[in-house]
Amino acid sequence: MPRTVLVTGGTSGIGRAVAAAFAADRAEVFVTGRTPDTVERTARDLGVHGVVCDAADPRQAEALAARLDGLDVLVNAAGGLARPGTEAEPGLDALLAQWRENLAQNLLTAVLTTASVRDKFTAGGSVVSIGSIGAERRGGAYGAAKAALAAWNASLSAELAPQGVTCNVVAAGYVAGTNFFHGGLSAERERALVEETHVKRPGTVEDIARTVHFLASPGARHITGQTMHVNGGAFTTR
Ligand SMILES: NC(=O)c1ccc[n+]([C@@H]2O[C@H](COP(=O)([O-])OP(=O)(O)OC[C@H]3O[C@@H](n4cnc5c(N)ncnc54)[C@H](OP(=O)(O)O)[C@@H]3O)[C@@H](O)[C@H]2O)c1
Repeated sequence: MPRTVLVTGGTSGIGRAVAAAFAADRAEVFVTGRTPDTVERTARDLGVHGVVCDAADPRQAEALAARLDGLDVLVNAAGGLARPGTEAEPGLDALLAQWRENLAQNLLTAVLTTASVRDKFTAGGSVVSIGSIGAERRGGAYGAAKAALAAWNASLSAELAPQGVTCNVVAAGYVAGTNFFHGGLSAERERALVEETHVKRPGTVEDIARTVHFLASPGARHITGQTMHVNGGAFTTR
């Protein structure tokens, strides 16, 4: 029986590679994004179902959940740097907007989507949410949102374990080949990000997709409530 897999933010970068990895298993894959064109193109290219859905909108998350009969794997990949320019803008209103958007994009997308589908999970299911190295150091509003994502994941794991569902975060370091930096990553900054890795290369979307795929595999059933760092050694753990 093919697995049913939902990948939010599955139309670009990491989410698209995750969707492709599960599609290669002949799973029934649903990808979401907010932009109709890229949803349609990705669905066609990968041979998956595409659903236009803003994961930070409760009504849209509910409507998406209503389309699923059951669910084996949820990958919360939707997210990114919200309003990158606003840190320089003065005033509390701009600051509030920047924090709200980062929390909505990187935390609430996962919280709302997971809540909307939690009764659909089959035993043996998995939730994998894409976190960031930014949670471990100067990450500003974005890093704070990703740190909160990991904290939320720990409690989610305890809540869903009785249903036989594992819940983990894959915290990515710098990954090339995505729209994450909105085209604004300078060559100098990219060199610095690569230099801080032990392996002296950027992550690829496949590096992250393979880790997600493993966490949703039979070999990972005793791994839950964890944050797995995939960053080439740029941040190490004990
Ligand atoms: N690239 C990196 O270096 C890096 C490092 C650490 C962590 N990450 C994390 O990896 C995840 C994937 O990012 P990426 O690097 O692959 O960037 P990306 O290429 O910009 O992909 C982001 C995807 O999320 C979708 N999306 C954004 N907000 C959404 C929302 N509210 N509802 C539904 N879909 C939404 C985007 O489509 P639409 O814009 O059309 O909605 C797109 O499909 C993010 O959570 C990001 O924070 C990335």
